[in-house]
Amino acid sequence: MTERTSIHGQWSSRLIFVLAAAGSAVGLGNIWKFPYITGEYGGGAFVLVYLLCIAVIGLPVMMVEILLGRRGRQSPINTMKTLAKEENRTRLWSWIGWSGVLSGFLILSFYSVIAGWALAYVFKAVSGTFNGITAAQVGDLFGAHVGSWPLVLLWHTVFILMTVFVVARGVRAGLEKAVTYLMPLLLALLLVLVGYSMAEGDFARGFSFLFSPDFKKVFYTCSVEGGIESCAFNGEPLLTAMGHAFFTLSLGMGAIMVYGSYMPKRTSITGSALLIVFMDTLVALLAGLAIFPLVFGNNLEPGAGPGLIFQTLPIAFGAMTGGQLFGTLFFVLLVFAAWTSSISLVEPAVAWLVENRGIRRRHAAAWLGFGCWLLGLGTVFSFNLMSGEQYHIAGKTVFDLLDFITTNILLPVGGLAMALFTGWFASRRMSESELGLPDPWFSIWWFVVRFITPVGVLIIFLHAIGVL
Ligand code: PHE
Repeated sequence: MTERTSIHGQWSSRLIFVLAAAGSAVGLGNIWKFPYITGEYGGGAFVLVYLLCIAVIGLPVMMVEILLGRRGRQSPINTMKTLAKEENRTRLWSWIGWSGVLSGFLILSFYSVIAGWALAYVFKAVSGTFNGITAAQVGDLFGAHVGSWPLVLLWHTVFILMTVFVVARGVRAGLEKAVTYLMPLLLALLLVLVGYSMAEGDFARGFSFLFSPDFKKVFYTCSVEGGIESCAFNGEPLLTAMGHAFFTLSLGMGAIMVYGSYMPKRTSITGSALLIVFMDTLVALLAGLAIFPLVFGNNLEPGAGPGLIFQTLPIAFGAMTGGQLFGTLFFVLLVFAAWTSSISLVEPAVAWLVENRGIRRRHAAAWLGFGCWLLGLGTVFSFNLMSGEQYHIAGKTVFDLLDFITTNILLPVGGLAMALFTGWFASRRMSESELGLPDPWFSIWWFVVRFITPVGVLIIFLHAIGVL
């Protein structure tokens, strides 16, 4: 009864599933976003909460998504519909799939713009622009780049076309080769960068910024009035840390679910999930260790925002021996990491269009790509034409707003719903037979999915809206 097969094909081995899912997880989230939000939210305590969210919420939800996907073997929308029917629940659970399609669409629209920055930086690196660059110059370089909307638009367009190209060919054919070699190479290069930071940056300060938590600084806003200090709890860092746990692991929107639907039956879900989560976390921490020593060593601002890596790493490339080569390689690999993530953002939607509308994969990919491109204009202009306050919505640029809605709201709500469906509305037998975990491990996981994860997400939501 559960031996469904996917009409879209299957990964050729267990290793390929792990690499593809890790390819989806490891991306701009780890190398661009983790350092910049850690910098903005003041370091250590934020990192600790983020790691806690990864362990208590991210890992269990990762297992939930893979198991639902492999059980249903269809696009997330149809997987949820099928499983809900099988478990005698309402078909409305398929809205999880719909919300995921929407999230993927909104995320890709800004993801592609940032990936476009990285593409542009490949060419700056090759041409030796970074050689001997100073901290001040590197800031100007970044400002000039994002300030020029036609350039940003051009690279955004190129990246969307790259994404459409792979998705159109089918994720398997397009992806398997790339992830097998490039992921290990990226890891190696990050290690080189960390080595450089240890030698040349202020490693001690960078390290303690990342790992010694100061909860008061991060989670409280304090003001002194009449010599008396009063502090108020601020829920936003908490929400951002949790949202980022979903974002960086590609959870809550069906990307991992759809990849799970192409997973061979005999592969261990738990083992794969552990490996993916480990790799993703490793890459993020290495990126942090490469960047913050450079930030402090060059008297840069950790809270510089979305430009942080573009304003720090070129200094290292400009000063180290072989920096032109390393710099080029780094931005090429960053683009690849973004590429293997971006295709998973549209795959759930494409799979559904192929299944339900009989649309050719190529056409589905092209239409979705065009939509994301168009919406991406909002992010393109967020850093130049529309950076002024008069264009802000609720105090945020279009980019910040899209990022906030997807990462901090849609993904956690999606992940919460998946955990609730699995833990409360589907049978224990469904999970048992997919996971095949011996006790006590299964019982522990089951308890976490039913209680810890949902309560964790809810508490953070309530904190963020100021109820707790
Ligand atoms: N996890 C990816 C990254 O860290 C982004 C992503 C989010 C991809 C959601 C797919 C789904 O860059």
